[in-house]
Amino acid sequence: MTAPVKTAVFPVAGLGTRFLPVTKASPKEMLPVVDKPLIQYAVEEAVAAGIERLVFVTGRTKRPIEDHFDKAYELEAELEAKRKHALLELARSTLPAGVICTYIRQSEPLGLGHAVSCARPVVGDAPFAVILADDLIDGHGEKVTAQMIREFDEHSCSILGVEPVPMDDTQKYGVIEANAFADGVSSVQRIVEKPAPEEAPSNLAVVGRYVLTPAIFEHLAETPPDGKGEIQLTDAIATLLQRERVLGYEFQGTRYDCGSKLGYLQATVEYGLEHPELGAQFAEYLHQRHPTPA
Ligand code: UTP
Repeated sequence: MTAPVKTAVFPVAGLGTRFLPVTKASPKEMLPVVDKPLIQYAVEEAVAAGIERLVFVTGRTKRPIEDHFDKAYELEAELEAKRKHALLELARSTLPAGVICTYIRQSEPLGLGHAVSCARPVVGDAPFAVILADDLIDGHGEKVTAQMIREFDEHSCSILGVEPVPMDDTQKYGVIEANAFADGVSSVQRIVEKPAPEEAPSNLAVVGRYVLTPAIFEHLAETPPDGKGEIQLTDAIATLLQRERVLGYEFQGTRYDCGSKLGYLQATVEYGLEHPELGAQFAEYLHQRHPTPA
């Protein structure tokens, strides 16, 4: 029997250049969508899937992430003294009890594959999830990491979160060629990093959710840097699938690419409309700005 997935790796060491200047001194993953930073949505998704160990692969400017999941003594003392119990609960709730955080530094941003390989000493010889916080996914009913771990428990092999994208967008993603064998589940035959539309084997793009077997670390160790000097996770998966079965899983949910400004704005509008305190007022505001034609 395969070991259960109890560890999630959050690669948060990218430079976030598409969000400059905001990312000059602050992490992209701390951008708020309404009132929570992207990284907190990602952590909540992991914890809801039964993850107990969170491994953050961090870089320069990423200290606020560590502080966000740590105890804020002065703030908590202040809120307690003022009897602001609801706010105190909010400040304390960033990390549920019993969850362990580990921070590993990726000294240079040498690519997503390199970032994942930095987590090897902590992950060890067990399967693990990888969550890219800038892909914010609103799972329909069940959060996406939980959906993917369910598939892992059934098939005991690496699972890639995939989504159909417009053919014109294939060069932004790793794209798979796969044989579907169950609803939303397919056996990956080939994976290509950022293919031009005419070279893409399909429109099924790999997005920021993975459940990987520990064998990926050996493949990452042997993956050479690409033309930009980065070690790509896609390239390591390409050699992994020559040795092990790898599945693509079309998750249930809506993804917002919060690494891009447009995706981030879309997420802000949608999560704002769903917000329990603000939703109705925000909907009214949007309606006033853009009345629906009668
Ligand atoms: P992106 O491709 O979005 O790169 O990385 P980026 O640097 O974050 O952003 P741009 O393109 O410059 O705007 C995908 C994910 O991989 C992580 C990022 O933090 C992000 O979650 N990553 C990327 C690393 O952790 N280390 C790296 O060396 C590269």
